[in-house]
Amino acid sequence: MGKVFVTRQTPGRALDMLREAGHDVETWPGADAPPPEALAAGLAGADAALTMVVDHVTAAMLDGAKNLRVLANMAVGFDNLNPAEAAKRGIVVTNTPGVLAETTADMAWALLMAASRNVVASDRDTRAGGWTTWSPTAFLGVDVFGATLGIVGLGEIGEAMARRARGFEMRVLYASRTRKPEAEQRLGIEFAILDDVLGAADFVSLHTPLTAETRHLISARELALMKRSAFLINTARGGVVDQDALTAALREGRIAGAALDVTDPEPLPLDNPLYSFPNVVITPHIASASLATRARMAEMAAANIIAVLGGRPPVNPVPQG
Ligand code: NAP
Ligand code: GLV
Repeated sequence: MGKVFVTRQTPGRALDMLREAGHDVETWPGADAPPPEALAAGLAGADAALTMVVDHVTAAMLDGAKNLRVLANMAVGFDNLNPAEAAKRGIVVTNTPGVLAETTADMAWALLMAASRNVVASDRDTRAGGWTTWSPTAFLGVDVFGATLGIVGLGEIGEAMARRARGFEMRVLYASRTRKPEAEQRLGIEFAILDDVLGAADFVSLHTPLTAETRHLISARELALMKRSAFLINTARGGVVDQDALTAALREGRIAGAALDVTDPEPLPLDNPLYSFPNVVITPHIASASLATRARMAEMAAANIIAVLGGRPPVNPVPQG
């Protein structure tokens, strides 16, 4: 059967599934991502690859991968895989939609709560010995209940955010590429253009993919439209936000804070000024990181490989135009 290059150890049954289907599985042994030359070598010897979001596949790597038939990302985002270049070489690209939406929204919600209620800043202060008394004025945050949530990108995760907002009695506005009247009815949410969402929201949560259209969707102009009291939550991709503009907005106090599970680049270098703001929470791209969800994602990627190498259509093909 086929040779499958898996770029990391994965949870769940994915590797067993591939072996049970008769494939020869080679797993990159490191805890870190394979460096570009190792990724290129792995792809060059493979019929299929099970990749992670940090595996950046270039056209040159694809040129060297003469037998490669499918790149199965263990992620819903696929901006790392160069799908258009893959299509030119007849290589199918697949992703893992849906299975991670609730887990990712849980994390976006955790970030929203952490930023608005100083969870990380107060924990840090407590560990440093700062808890000397109960204070009526220490770590005053803002209320989440009853506030306005602005969702940018109303897909699977955006909808999961809207469902969570109902429990907090929030008004929910959304901006998205396509207006969704059925979802508006079902979720009790309102459509608005991006500028209006930015101007009205107390929390702006980003849920678009990273594409040519969404790169730096949130730049200086958009940040200036946000309320000074508002927070930006990004679990989408670092590149959706112009990080220099965000840094300037935070430095000048033009927004209240930010919570970022994704940055540009990743990992975010330790000398990046974003680390210096007490009102910024940064997590290392872990929004889908529950054991059950990561196992489902890996198994879904394996199922896509098994389908393509078995001569069947992929279960979760991505647009490659
Ligand atoms: P999805 O179901 O495909 O939803 C994406 C939504 O974004 C769609 O509603 C889409 O509109 C909208 N959109 C696309 N281009 C847009 C634009 N230019 N302007 C406004 N809206 C636009 O994807 P999802 O499962 O919700 O995931 C969203 C993204 O989250 C992924 O692509 C990934 O980058 C990121 N993510 C990150 C993590 C993490 O660990 N931090 C985990 C999971 C996902 P249409 O309805 O018109 O297509
Ligand atoms: C994670 O970032 C994903 O796109 O699934």
